[in-house]
Amino acid sequence: MKQIDVFEYLPQIMIELKKGILVNTKNGDKTNSMTIAWGQVGIEWRKLFFTTYIRHGRFTHEQIENTKEFTVSVPLERTPEIAKAIAYIGSRSGRNINKLADCNLTLIDGIEVNSPAIKEIPLTLECKVIYSQEQEIDKIPVELKEQFYPQNVDSTAPMANRDYHTVYYGEIVQAYIL
Ligand SMILES: Cc1cc2nc3c(=O)[nH]c(=O)nc-3n(C[C@H](O)[C@H](O)[C@H](O)COP(=O)(O)O)c2cc1C
Repeated sequence: MKQIDVFEYLPQIMIELKKGILVNTKNGDKTNSMTIAWGQVGIEWRKLFFTTYIRHGRFTHEQIENTKEFTVSVPLERTPEIAKAIAYIGSRSGRNINKLADCNLTLIDGIEVNSPAIKEIPLTLECKVIYSQEQEIDKIPVELKEQFYPQNVDSTAPMANRDYHTVYYGEIVQAYIL
């Protein structure tokens, strides 16, 4: 395991984010992962954050509400197996299944959080949520509201688009490559 300076890996993190990376959570015994393509590394209150946007209906939303932490897993090499796992994890809910086990991914204990890192997707950010915010619906431009929140897919479905996003500010407390 090698600790890293997040800034040196910003291009890698952002290029991979656009294609889909993972947010992992653990609440009690229940470990889960979901794919995200929205987010950023940024600074506020002199702290370094990974900011992620999670729709209300995601199981991950429930997990983060309960634990206030998550890890982010970024691939260094997008092999066909990793691409397949990220697509699988982004297309069904972990409420009643174990997506990480289904994809044969190896979990490694976090250092400062309970959420795991993933051996096969080695660039890891451990994040503690110190702030969250509901997006203000009235401030979202009409065309984006129509495009991203069209109200025709039930919020329990994986491709739910009815519900809005909570923005979670995860302070990056550890950053490393497994
Ligand atoms: C490439 C890709 C990017 C995604 N990005 C996001 C995102 O940024 N925020 C979000 O709420 N859902 C996003 N999703 C959808 C979730 O990954 C999907 O609904 C998943 O089933 C949620 O899992 P969960 O219910 O176990 O939390 C994305 C899906 C894919 C395939």
